[in-house]
Amino acid sequence: MIKSPRGTRDLLPPDTALWNFVEAAVRDVFRAYNFHEIRTPIFESTELFARGVGEETDIVAKEMFTWEDRGGAQSEEFARLLDLVEEKLGLSIADARDQIKFFKDAIALGKWKGQSLTLRPENTAGVVRAYIEHKLWDRGLNKLFYIGPQFRRERPQKGRYRQFYQIGAEIIGPAAAGSQSPARDAEILELLATLLDRVGIKNWTLELNSVGCPADRARFNEALRQALEPVVGKMCADCQRRAVTNPLRVFDCKVPEDQPTIATLPTITQFLDESCRAHYEEVKNILSAVHIPYVENPRLVRGLDYYQKTAFEFTHGALGAQNAILGGGRYDGLSEALGGPAAPGIGFAIGEDRLVLSLMETAPAEAVVRKPDVYIAPLGAGMNREAARVARELRRHDLVADLVIELGDESFRLKKSFEAADKMGARYILIVGENEVAADAFALKHLASGEQVTVPRGKLAQRILQK
Ligand code: HAM
Repeated sequence: MIKSPRGTRDLLPPDTALWNFVEAAVRDVFRAYNFHEIRTPIFESTELFARGVGEETDIVAKEMFTWEDRGGAQSEEFARLLDLVEEKLGLSIADARDQIKFFKDAIALGKWKGQSLTLRPENTAGVVRAYIEHKLWDRGLNKLFYIGPQFRRERPQKGRYRQFYQIGAEIIGPAAAGSQSPARDAEILELLATLLDRVGIKNWTLELNSVGCPADRARFNEALRQALEPVVGKMCADCQRRAVTNPLRVFDCKVPEDQPTIATLPTITQFLDESCRAHYEEVKNILSAVHIPYVENPRLVRGLDYYQKTAFEFTHGALGAQNAILGGGRYDGLSEALGGPAAPGIGFAIGEDRLVLSLMETAPAEAVVRKPDVYIAPLGAGMNREAARVARELRRHDLVADLVIELGDESFRLKKSFEAADKMGARYILIVGENEVAADAFALKHLASGEQVTVPRGKLAQRILQK
């Protein structure tokens, strides 16, 4: 049996109803906050993530699905040149062979080297690439959202998959458009509180920190290096490497034995300069004004290198070890790191898989599944076509959104049709037999109460809609 690859899964009904419910609700929330959808490619050049997310992060160092794209660039180029040989130059076969050899050698020498591509492990770098590529600064402040799959080669467990889904948003634009303002940070956090409440996630915790600007980080990194020097010898191999290359990443360490040492390290808070401190204070002031509760966590650094100033996570108890339902923060230097103009930004990504898992604690997927309003039961030979007519009338353009219609088969005996209607939770069963067709009126039975009425064809929709 061929199974889905490790860390991937099929989402099946009725669970998909919960996914659709979540996506519809978040689209409503994004609309209310004037966010607009962006869709970026599922794969990008590897360099984008190396430069954007950071070479030293676990994501880039260990978890990316990367491949060399030989097919595309090379064979397209090759085919083009072969066409040229064939058509334009009118060469003999022997000459053409020489040409082909010439091109093959060129390929072997790496003249048309393939591009390194990577399945996106996250979407912020792609959005910022698109911002630069399409000069989105012309639009002022961009408020963008996305919903889609991301890929990380992690060890699979509950709430952690190799293909997972994120619902994310980014506010990005020139500083003159207000992109740097703490009001944007607070707006994002308040939006998240609304969104989680709207979909029905209860008891979330917002953990908040400021990771400072690059200058603060340089001072902090130096202090960390010094603090680590006498103790790092006892820590895991990853920490020993990080202590040299990027000490901040030591806080990503999950090794239990290292945690007591990590707890003694200095925190970024003491190193924030005046402007970062003021920015952070204002974010907190606005949050208090709109009554969004938060917990400060000075050790929250996040697993991606691009963050500056505000960093946050929302956690939820139902998730166990993988308890971060979403994460985000400000990335004021990312556009420049990718070769673009200054474009301060802030955003977040919700792990949709985790959001749905948390929801399942309280709301079984069945609760949001839309059941058929009516099961149409053709009774006897030749009745499939009559039932199809009735179904088509009930699925009229103006009723499509209102009625869910299920259509049976004339080969079923009445008992079997009733069983099928019951099993799928239909509200009514509608009998389409010869007598009904002749009378142009149909037996409509309410399954829960057993009440049965005869309804003329033209009144069916109205009657079924009555609930
Ligand atoms: P992140 O913290 O790497 O941030 O991921 C955001 C969320 O995606 C996590 O909190 C988690 O819920 C979910 N997630 C991550 N990895 C997995 C996995 N393997 N399986 C299931 N869920 C997972 C980012 O990706 C940033 N781009 C967020 C951001 C947007 N920052 C600024 N703008």
